[in-house]
Amino acid sequence: METYKIAVIAGDGVGPEVIGEAVRVLERAAALDGSFAFSFTHFPWGCEYYLKTGRMMPENGMEILKDFDAILLGAVGYPGVPDHISLRGLLLEIRHGFDQYVNLRPVRLLKGAPCPLAGRGPEDIRMTFVRENTEGEYAGSGAWLYQGRPEEVVIQDSVFSRRGTERVIRYAYELARKEGRTLTSVSKANALNYSMVFWDQIFKEVGEEYPDVETHSLLVDAAAMFMVKDPARFQIVVTSNLFGDILTDLGAAIAGGMGLAAGANLNPERTWPSMFEPIHGSAPDIAGKGIADPLASIWTAAQMLDFFGHEDWGAKVVDAIESLLSDKDRLTPDLGGRASTEECGKALADLLG
Ligand code: NAI
Ligand code: MG
Repeated sequence: METYKIAVIAGDGVGPEVIGEAVRVLERAAALDGSFAFSFTHFPWGCEYYLKTGRMMPENGMEILKDFDAILLGAVGYPGVPDHISLRGLLLEIRHGFDQYVNLRPVRLLKGAPCPLAGRGPEDIRMTFVRENTEGEYAGSGAWLYQGRPEEVVIQDSVFSRRGTERVIRYAYELARKEGRTLTSVSKANALNYSMVFWDQIFKEVGEEYPDVETHSLLVDAAAMFMVKDPARFQIVVTSNLFGDILTDLGAAIAGGMGLAAGANLNPERTWPSMFEPIHGSAPDIAGKGIADPLASIWTAAQMLDFFGHEDWGAKVVDAIESLLSDKDRLTPDLGGRASTEECGKALADLLG
């Protein structure tokens, strides 16, 4: 029997609350299937760890993580530790260090999920974002000169390598081909006259290998507008790190809210572990109350099942989320229900069988 070794970094705020339910669902799927299992190892890293040790994870953290098959992460960041420290010291370190260059984010409106767009339903909102995840605007390159002086200057570089740009765009073309869907590239070549002209050029170049894939290109501002006005035009979407970050929060808003938004950080070659995390943060405003929505984390667990080749279980989990959405009694308050995180997670696991 295959046993997947999973490193669990529950993290801060609602992280531990929601991750517990993702673990419950993964265990249930494995128990029902019988041909695979999970072994979970929990790491107490995050902001509390930082306040005690001065680090978000131990110095050899990456060394510890590298032997796992995958990482399941709740959320990191909490008032008391500056966000740029918590983000860089853990999340970005893992994304960059393990070359998780694809951030795969489903933006799919399930039946029964709230949608703020008038007259739109599940058939209109069914896209998959492929966000570049290791370089671009989040490469962490720049300078802060003459700090605190009147002549102070800050420079934040965007880094687009040919290898980095080609591989994420190629991943998106492959996905579009596999799923028989259109591919939309989102960039901004009119204003970003180096990085995004380059991006568009690579999108065209790689596209020559995929004449069967229907493509579209949009400027990011127009893409934001169309996601609201005409979301059905998007199927597979490929974009840079910053644009993908922003557009997928917009995506979360039109597809049921932060409580339902999942994401996977993939190292497609499987040289390093991939990391699965809901896209929401630690939600300090509701942390500790036991009312955080676990469905985003559970959807993330479904993506993990997909990644391990158990697409049948991945689909079953997403179907179970969809069935649960029609039963307000078992949903958390963000979706109009009164259930606790645990009640919602247990109900979901029970729907699996
Ligand atoms: P957030 O995503 O934590 O919260 C935004 C809003 O969504 C809040 O009203 C919150 O209550 C709600 N929300 C989020 N997750 C929810 C859930 N599972 N169920 C129900 N409601 C939910 O974003 P915010 O407040 O901007 O950031 C809080 C902290 O999280 C910051 O320190 C930030 O840096 C960090 N953060 C971490 C991320 C990560 O670990 N990947 C991503 C985004 C933020
Ligand atoms: Mg974000």
